[in-house]
Amino acid sequence: MSLEGFFRRIPKAELHLHLEGAVSASTFAELAAQNGVALPDGKPTEDLYSYGNLLDFLKVYDLVCASVRSADDFSRITFEALERCALGGARYVELFFSPHAHLAHGVTYSTMLEGILDGFRRARERYGLVAKLIPAHAKPLGAEGGERFLDMVLAERPAEIIGIGFDYDERPNPPGMFLGIVERAKAAGLNVTNHAGEDGPADYVRDTVDLLGLRRVDHGYHVVDDPALMERCRELDVVFTCCPSTTLVTTVWRDLASPDHAIRRMMDAGLNVTIHTDDPPMFGTTLDREYALIAKNFGLSPARLKEVALAGLAASWLDPETKRTWM
Ligand code: HPA
Ligand code: ZN
Repeated sequence: MSLEGFFRRIPKAELHLHLEGAVSASTFAELAAQNGVALPDGKPTEDLYSYGNLLDFLKVYDLVCASVRSADDFSRITFEALERCALGGARYVELFFSPHAHLAHGVTYSTMLEGILDGFRRARERYGLVAKLIPAHAKPLGAEGGERFLDMVLAERPAEIIGIGFDYDERPNPPGMFLGIVERAKAAGLNVTNHAGEDGPADYVRDTVDLLGLRRVDHGYHVVDDPALMERCRELDVVFTCCPSTTLVTTVWRDLASPDHAIRRMMDAGLNVTIHTDDPPMFGTTLDREYALIAKNFGLSPARLKEVALAGLAASWLDPETKRTWM
């Protein structure tokens, strides 16, 4: 079997994938034209998928969000995202989406859910892929915005919604702002995860673990700046959903071959690292490619890669019974 075939065939869980970041440049172009969304300088969408940092990226991400309007649009982008996951060897997907970015264009939450769940159904029928949904709160909308976000999520709650996340611009919006929302979400039986330590400091990873009480951190790279925190996260078995290609754009670690790269140091320190894609076409990647990247750059054996994939399934929010049958 080719090396590429091997990476594709390892059964994987995709736990860090944003629906709107999974829209291909060609689908983005079609939806923008169809829904009358003007692109900057009339540039081809391929040229827009290039950024210097997290904030640059988020501007383009918002344009993609603006281009998705009808339930059919949501079904299309969901199916296309999940199809790419299935072809890259994913068995199971937990998918973030950004409700606020569509509400801003008059799209109702019900329309989003209708389209996304239709995409889930089609991907399950076609590829046997199981997917769950994680509405994500945009941190810049603050704590009050977060309370309204959670009200909306709790008011319309199909079984596919298994948790909530927090994302967008990290540094000005420390985790503690969202303590009340996290507590309410947990009390309502939702899982919670938080983007932290991507371009924010190690303190934000600590606050996510110790103040919010979460055991899943999206990215988390700046944990490497605090050895005591690293040890604590190892003891608590905190899951870090890492995305190698994203680090080359949104973090200070822009060379995967460097022994100093944060993901490598996290793995070497025995942290529970799982590997995902974040926004795959927007960062020019796929799930099997992310595995190939760490294999090549970190010198990981096939056996170690299988362990990483199993760690992803184990870290998922699937119920323990289903998880056991899959591992
Ligand atoms: N970081 C923060 N917000 C995001 C990201 C990310 O990598 N992708 C989509 N929204
Ligand atoms: Zn992300």
